[in-house]
Amino acid sequence: MSESARADWLRRLPKTELHLHIEGTLEPELMFALALRNGVTLPYPDVDALRAAYDFHNLQSFLDLYYAGAGVLLTEADFYDLTWAYLERAHADRVVHVEIFFDPQTHTERGVPFETALAGIRRALVDGEAKLGIGFRLILCFLRHLSEDAGFAALEQALPFLSQIDGVGLDSSEHGHPPEKFARLFARCKALGLARVAHAGEEGPADYVWQAIRLLDVARIDHGVRALEDDALVAYLAEHRIPLTVCPLSNIKLRVFDTLADHPLRTLLERGLVATVNSDDPAYFGGYVGENWQACADALDLTRAELVQLARNGIEASWMDDAAKTRWYAEIDTLAAEPA
Ligand code: HPA
Ligand code: ZN
Repeated sequence: MSESARADWLRRLPKTELHLHIEGTLEPELMFALALRNGVTLPYPDVDALRAAYDFHNLQSFLDLYYAGAGVLLTEADFYDLTWAYLERAHADRVVHVEIFFDPQTHTERGVPFETALAGIRRALVDGEAKLGIGFRLILCFLRHLSEDAGFAALEQALPFLSQIDGVGLDSSEHGHPPEKFARLFARCKALGLARVAHAGEEGPADYVWQAIRLLDVARIDHGVRALEDDALVAYLAEHRIPLTVCPLSNIKLRVFDTLADHPLRTLLERGLVATVNSDDPAYFGGYVGENWQACADALDLTRAELVQLARNGIEASWMDDAAKTRWYAEIDTLAAEPA
């Protein structure tokens, strides 16, 4: 099979996106347009200067820029435009279902009401389902560098809108902010019927993955690549089919691994884990989900069977209903059966 035929096959493969921070889809061009619209001054003269600053050496160096960039998001229309631009881009990569994170504390701390962010994001997601056929779920992420009490305050603001929120997550600076810091908050979320996920094992140790499982009772682990350092943990994740939402280009940009050729994506599959491919913060990390798939296929020389397994894992790991899962498994099987 030629390279271009393989790229075309990969483009047509139905994909999910289960690890995507909507604030991380803010492209420099849109950031400047929203700054102009809202009368916000950015500390960069132009788009090129901003992009040149995207030279990260770890998670924190990225987060500092990511939170500053989100400062241009003020109105419901801003959140709509942000989310709609992402959905159109995802659609081009044949993403058929998204489960996206938003960080309400990043916005409420700046005086933007919780419901402003929620309403704009949701309106775009509803339009995306109607016009682009992209199914969706929405996950509220708590910022782990803030206190558990601050998380409870964010949850309090979300209470009138819980019918519009499918789950909660945990993101931001991992070092020094273990999942156990949020055990009471996640227990309350569980009692409210919210599904739970958490970032763990990106920069933090395998023990943080154990904590997320045992103390937060999560359905998935976001990143989780450092789970490979603990054989008992790998066995547990495999046995219980707890998915990992892996973000390959993010891992390279934030220097979790040196190059994609060193990335353990294949090892995760070989160990029987439900590993999935996602883009994390694509405007900052140099690639949307399609680029993550293509770059991994190239760098790791993934076989068609491995690519099919990754696509099936995305469906299994998602929270779409069973009828939708059956539909997408069938479509993936059809692509799998095409002559190579
Ligand atoms: N890790 C932790 N927090 C984040 C990330 C990430 O990759 N992206 C946005 N917030
Ligand atoms: Zn993330």
